[in-house]
Order: sequence, then C-alpha cells, then structure tokens
Amino acid sequence: HEATTSRKLDHLRICSEEDIEAGSSGFSDIRIVHAALPECDMDGVDLSCHFLGHSLATPLFIAAMTGGHPDTTDVNRRLARAAEKAGCAIGVGSQRAALERPDLAGSFKVVRKEAPTAFIAANIGAVQLREYGTGWAEKAVSMIDADCVAVHLNFLQEAIQPEGDRDAAGCLGAIEELCSDASVPVIVKETGSGISRETARLLWNAGVKAIDIGGHGGTSWAKIEGIREGEKNEPPLTRLGDDFIDWGIPTVVSLIEVRETGGPVIATGGVRSGVDIAKALALGADMAGMALPLLAPAMKGDSALACAIDHIHRQLKAAMFLSGAATLRDMRRVRTYITGDTRMMIQKYD
Ligand code: FNR
Repeated sequence: HEATTSRKLDHLRICSEEDIEAGSSGFSDIRIVHAALPECDMDGVDLSCHFLGHSLATPLFIAAMTGGHPDTTDVNRRLARAAEKAGCAIGVGSQRAALERPDLAGSFKVVRKEAPTAFIAANIGAVQLREYGTGWAEKAVSMIDADCVAVHLNFLQEAIQPEGDRDAAGCLGAIEELCSDASVPVIVKETGSGISRETARLLWNAGVKAIDIGGHGGTSWAKIEGIREGEKNEPPLTRLGDDFIDWGIPTVVSLIEVRETGGPVIATGGVRSGVDIAKALALGADMAGMALPLLAPAMKGDSALACAIDHIHRQLKAAMFLSGAATLRDMRRVRTYITGDTRMMIQKYD
C-alpha cells in the first residue's frame, strides 16, 4: 500500500518537473477546412453537448490524474472546482489506494464535494476489477457519487514497471460482467497507447457505453517509468521504459479507427489546445480529454487553472467559428485534410 501511494507522488512530481511527452498524437497532420464565410456569430458559438444521458456545457473532459495520497487532495480540489465552474466532465485518478485503505478516500471525496453537479468518472484498473469484481467498482462509484465508472487499461506501464501486473487474462470477461451489473455506465480508457478498431469491437460487444482512446503522442508512461527507474538505479536489464517510448497507436489514428466501430468516443492523449479539440470533434469525437496540460496550473492555484481552461475554450470557439460551426453537431460535420504519417496509417490496403 505504501508503494502505491508514494508512487502517486512520484508521478505528480515527475509529470510536473520533467519532459514526459513522447511521439506525435497526429493533430499536426490534421487541417480543418477553413470557412471563409462562417455565417455565424463567434460570440454565439455553443459548446454544449450530451454525453451518456447528461447535458454538459463543454466537450472538454478533465482526464483522470490523481488522488490516493493526502498530498494530492489540493490538486483534486482545484480540478473539481474548475470542473464545476466551467461545466467540464472530470475523472479522478485510480481509486485503488483508497479502496485498499479507506483513510485515503478523502483525496477523492473532495472531488464530489467541490463539484456537486459535475459529471464525474470513477476510476479503477482492469486487473483490480478482475481480482475483486463488480462490488469493488461499485465502492469506487459510491465513494465519490460518480456518474460513470472508467476502467483503465495500462498494460504498457505494467509491462515495464518492475512491480507491474503482467497477467492480463480474464480482464475482458470482468469488464463484460461489470457492464451487465453496474449501477452506472462503464467507460473503458487507455492511458497513452491507444485503442485499435479490433479492441474497440471487443469492448462494444462487452457492453461498454463509451471508449476513451487514450492514444499515443501525449503523456508517455514509458518515459515516466523510465525516469523513475533511473532515479532508483535499477540494474539496466530490469529497465524497459526507454525501449517502449515509441509504442502505441497515435491518438488521431486510434480516434479514426474507433469512430468507425460506433459508440461515443472521448479523444485523449496529446490534446494540447482548443484547436486540437476542434480537430478531434471534426474527426467524430464526442468529447476530448486533457490531463497533463491541466496539471501544472492545478498545482499552481485556482485562478491559474481557470485561466488555462478559459483559454482552451476561447481557442475552441475561434476554431469552430472559422470552421463555420455554431454548434458541436455542426463541428462534427466539418471536413478535414489528413496528411503525413496519419494519412499513411489510416490508408486501407486491399
Ligand atoms: C494520468 N492518467 C491516468 N489515467 C487513469 O485512468 N488513471 C490514473 O490514475 C491516471 N493517472 C495519471 C496521472 C498523471 C499525472 C497523468 C498526467 C495522467 C492518464 C490520463 O488520464 C490520460 O489518459 C493520459 O495522460 C493522456 O492524456 P494527456 O496527459 O496526454 O493529455
């Protein structure tokens, strides 16, 4: 337990101090077709949307980051306040530590306390779900009165961590069972390696209600774990972090693949601006998630975070206006040009 909770602090510190991004999400390969005659009012651009039966003020999803150590409470408090104020959906970090040690639950409960009306996603790992079952997931949901539960997939991180869980067998069955028994909708999310069309089909068949692709090109767990290994002076043969920095499906490629399989999609992984969000929407995403870009402002203070979110929304509104889209529904119909590696990867060879 101590190891889980001190790992949380290692992650926050490394993510806020070091360069932990790798690869390319593919957003630079996407160009939205410019509307020289937008025929709408930029000040009237409407960001509201529907997701899993809820009305939300914006498609910006504050992606799962933290909780599980008392020193993470302030960051979660600020993220929650910002979510409540801006109307963003928000995910908490893995609740494993608090499920094992209820005295750590305060660092998660603060999110519902500060965001009484926000759409909140609980968070558990697929391996823990397989080990402990639906009851465990329901405890995570009730801890924060969540609106949905996100099951995270992070097998790249598990594969390279010296202490990782390497047996993934049976996780799909556990997800299927959760989908049929859970009191709230189930989302499955990757955490930086993306989801393919084949995996997406397995997940829809299991009954998941939305997929968060968590693609490659933003926060890199290979890089984060590589840095942790270096700090701990692990003997080189136990280190795999550096060898898997390039592994994963770029966010835009994953988005295009999963979109074609049906069902609501959250585009996360290297989304770095409101313009990236507009691109994700044009490619068919329902929501767009950001983790790392919000961490530094959340560690700084409430106003830094509110400013960052406001700026993202201004970028998104301007991009929508220049696409001729007054609503998110319009934005999803905007045409894009796809270039570079992304174009190569989505090409169908038959
Ligand atoms: C994460 N992420 C994450 N995801 C998850 O499901 N459970 C978790 O506990 C965490 N913890 C976590 C901590 C920190 C510090 C970061 C930066 C990220 C993954 C996150 O939700 C997201 O999928 C990826 O970070 C990709 O998005 P960005 O960071 O490239 O915008």
